[in-house]
Amino acid sequence: MIHTDSGVPVADSRILVWDIPTRIFHWLLVLCFTVAYLTSESERWQLWHVVAGYTFGALLLFRLLWGMVGSRYARFSQFVRGPSQVLTYLRSLLSRKPDHYTGHNPAGALAIVGILGLGLLTVLTGWASFNDYGDWIGELHEGIVNVLLLIIGIHIAGVLISSLLHRENLVRAMVNGYKEGASVEAIRYPQWIAAVLLVVGLIAFLWALVSSQLPLLMP
Ligand code: HEM
Ligand code: HEM
Repeated sequence: MIHTDSGVPVADSRILVWDIPTRIFHWLLVLCFTVAYLTSESERWQLWHVVAGYTFGALLLFRLLWGMVGSRYARFSQFVRGPSQVLTYLRSLLSRKPDHYTGHNPAGALAIVGILGLGLLTVLTGWASFNDYGDWIGELHEGIVNVLLLIIGIHIAGVLISSLLHRENLVRAMVNGYKEGASVEAIRYPQWIAAVLLVVGLIAFLWALVSSQLPLLMP
């Protein structure tokens, strides 16, 4: 490994940063959100809306668990930071050498926490609206989705901007798991077993939903 004069390790290889469950979670979350959003206005597609919406919720619950027991960069304790660190990071973007993080940067992490929180509220209000708890709940559901959509827009813009500023392809990293970095910073295992459990769990969940084995969730 290469060190600078100050002894700080610098990028010298291709390192694994995102484990497989985190990547599966991300792209299925995008898929479920897109399906739920596109099917939200028509009666004819309501079953798709509900199934995509609940699967979105199941993915979020998995992520809460994975944020506690997952690999290094998937853990909340690794990336959730206070407002002062978010500001320091944003200020550094204006400098010639912006602060670089191997995992999520503090500003990106803020958007992620917003997406997880509002995502759960979306599912909760969607469930309440589906179970006829009143028209206002449907309005609230729609309002929360609009705020969530705004944060997702900021999230995507942030990903593209920091990819440009740091000259690293963050989208590709969320696909194949790899970034350029110092080898000591790599995670050791891709977490195949957890990935298989996640996929099997999701298939069982979908099967139970579609065959109405989860009557509590359906009106
Ligand atoms: C419905 C749309 C989307 C949602 C709900 C969403 C949500 C999230 C969440 C929750 C994370 C944290 C991942 C984790 O640690 O588990 C994340 C990270 C990420 N997302 Fe998205 N995302 C969306 C769309 C996109 C799109 C379209 C792209 C590609 C342009 C993208 C690229 C990324 C990247 C690159 C990261 C890692 C950021 C980093 O390096 O810190 N996301 N996203
Ligand atoms: C990713 C998750 C979700 C997204 C993005 C989403 C999005 C939306 C949007 C945009 C609307 C308003 C449609 C319109 O213009 O009238 C809506 C309505 C609705 N959603 Fe969802 N939804 C999600 C999850 C859920 C879930 C889990 C359920 C639970 C069964 C649900 C049930 C409903 C119902 C019943 C309505 C009609 C509300 C009314 O008009 O009073 N949604 N959803």
